[in-house]
Amino acid sequence: MTAMVIDGKQIAEQTRAEAAAGALALKTRTGVVPHLAAVLVGEDPASAVYVRNKQIACEKAGFKSTLHRLPASTGQGELLALVQALNADSGVHGILVQLPLPKGIDTTLILDAILPAKDVDGFHPENVGLLQQGRPRFLPCTPAGVMRMLKVSGIETAGKHAVVIGRSDIVGKPMAALLVQKGADATVTLCHSRTRDIGAFCREADILVAALGIPQFVKGDWVKPGAVVIDVGINRVGDKLVGDVDYLPAAQVASAITPVPGGVGPMTIAMLLANTLQAATNLSGLDGR
Ligand code: GUN
Repeated sequence: MTAMVIDGKQIAEQTRAEAAAGALALKTRTGVVPHLAAVLVGEDPASAVYVRNKQIACEKAGFKSTLHRLPASTGQGELLALVQALNADSGVHGILVQLPLPKGIDTTLILDAILPAKDVDGFHPENVGLLQQGRPRFLPCTPAGVMRMLKVSGIETAGKHAVVIGRSDIVGKPMAALLVQKGADATVTLCHSRTRDIGAFCREADILVAALGIPQFVKGDWVKPGAVVIDVGINRVGDKLVGDVDYLPAAQVASAITPVPGGVGPMTIAMLLANTLQAATNLSGLDGR
């Protein structure tokens, strides 16, 4: 078997076009233009590229985006004051503090300070709790992107055994929560660095989501024939980007697989636009509730 390749670029493009259409409709009805404020602290080159790409996507979709760029020496109090100012600014609908933050800044304290109604990353504990209770406000962008890819690709999750590798707050934990929630209805196993014999769990997976950040960790013979393989990893090895899955052997046995690059990666930004549009709509009192 050779797997169907799930084209994240194309699905992301479609998702971004929907966000652009939604933004235009909101502007026509209310004059409101969705506005994302991004905060970048320090000089991490990868973070700078990610934030730039988020800004470009906003502008292409007709959103407003502003970048607050602060030096690595920024104190926690100063960053907290910026977040509070963005919370209070009624012209800002979404706030994104790019992670990781420099050492010496308490990430939890900063993320907890973001107004939940503007938390388009879905990292605030109130939004995490709402997701766990099955009444989400904002879904974290990467796992929400994976769910959209599965849906658009016609991949059924109900009753399937989904194995997620990685227990990060950004991907692994919310991914497991989304797959298990009513409507998705998968049976979920969450594996992590202390799991014994991860390969044995992977071989039992109908849907395998790799989100641990180790290049080509998942071997081809860990993939059950006909399984769906979702690779969330983006690892730089030399001058190449590779995922957390050993792609070629895995693609020989899977029924569907996401490539790296061009798989899950583009979906993260597309879902950020969807969340920012939702925030702008909610804050404009047009959410129908
Ligand atoms: N760093 C890596 N991924 C993300 C993300 O989705 N959001 C933010 N804010 N920072 C990140």
